[in-house]
Amino acid sequence: MSTTFTLNGQPVTLEVADDTPLLWSLRDDANLTGTKFGCGIGMCGACTVLINGRATRSCITPTKQVDGTAVTTIEGLDPEGEHPLQQAWVKTQTPQCGYCQSGQIMQAAAMLKDFPDPTDEQINQVMSGNLCRCMAYVRIREAIKLAAADMRGAGQGNEPNDGTDTTEGAAS
Ligand code: FES
Ligand code: FES
Repeated sequence: MSTTFTLNGQPVTLEVADDTPLLWSLRDDANLTGTKFGCGIGMCGACTVLINGRATRSCITPTKQVDGTAVTTIEGLDPEGEHPLQQAWVKTQTPQCGYCQSGQIMQAAAMLKDFPDPTDEQINQVMSGNLCRCMAYVRIREAIKLAAADMRGAGQGNEPNDGTDTTEGAAS
């Protein structure tokens, strides 16, 4: 069946089987390989993207479910790849192997809409479903706080390019 949605701000129509996960449509059909496969069962967060601004595990989301929605991947978070979260990630040298980091950043982007000045506890709670086998959790938290401060200072409202201005949060 065909599924039509907005992908990183652009309309797209994909022909997919009913049970094709969004993750594979993104990687194989849309050639957006920034979203990673980790566990395939919704348990690690590596595949996190935004659907209408909400952090969502693309490995367990059938592509047909995103019909009519706005999907944002790491490639679409900022046109130049310079979203405050991405800049903070670089500044703090957060990634180690890097595999989990797209998912971490997308989850954090959703979280900062709900918690523009997050506490350690809020970060730990919201980010707890995003696993990092390199144990970069301390730097991830530091980077999130740096980005949050940057966004508050700039007053830019920290809106990712997700095609929506909702304030929905970081549910997964
Ligand atoms: S690959 Fe989707 S949650 Fe692990
Ligand atoms: S940086 Fe290696 S898994 Fe997170």
